Amino acid sequence: MRGPRALPAPPSGRGDAEELRTSITNLVDNAVKYSTDVVRITVAVAAPSPDSVWVRVQDRGVGIPRKQLKRIFRRFYRVQTRGFKQVKGTGLGLYIVRSIAHAHGGRVFAQSEGEGRGATFTLELPRLAS
Ligand SMILES: Nc1ncnc2c1ncn2[C@@H]1O[C@H](COP(=O)(O)OP(=O)(O)OP(=O)(O)O)[C@@H](O)[C@H]1O
Ligand SMILES: [Mg+2]
Repeated sequence: MRGPRALPAPPSGRGDAEELRTSITNLVDNAVKYSTDVVRITVAVAAPSPDSVWVRVQDRGVGIPRKQLKRIFRRFYRVQTRGFKQVKGTGLGLYIVRSIAHAHGGRVFAQSEGEGRGATFTLELPRLAS
């Protein structure tokens, strides 16, 4: 008789736990900060390919204009929001997330359908070889 079948192992990445925690905390912090009246955030882990892992943080907040999707990772860069109340910050969080991603051989990128339509941040890291 066959024994119980092993569940598929969750994707795992390799890295400095403290730094990875910092990067995920920064993304979740932003997702809350740049949400408006309702805070609805989704955090998901996925394996888009055999050698990489995604940690994806999605919100339904103020969104990001297309032209700024890359600039927001620059040091001290902050988006000037029009219709939404300005939120305090230093503009360093995403710069730190990007530095940590690069130090781990990964990357981070932002997607948004535009202002008022939420944003999705994906942290991609090399997958731990099993
Ligand atoms: N989830 C998000 N939705 C919409 N805009 C965002 C989101 N995350 C970041 N941004 C925009 O990108 C800019 C840079 O983000 P970053 O985290 O680097 O700095 P910050 O949040 O302003 O300050 P802090 O250094 O405290 O994190 C923000 O000022 C904001 O305009
Ligand atoms: Mg921030």
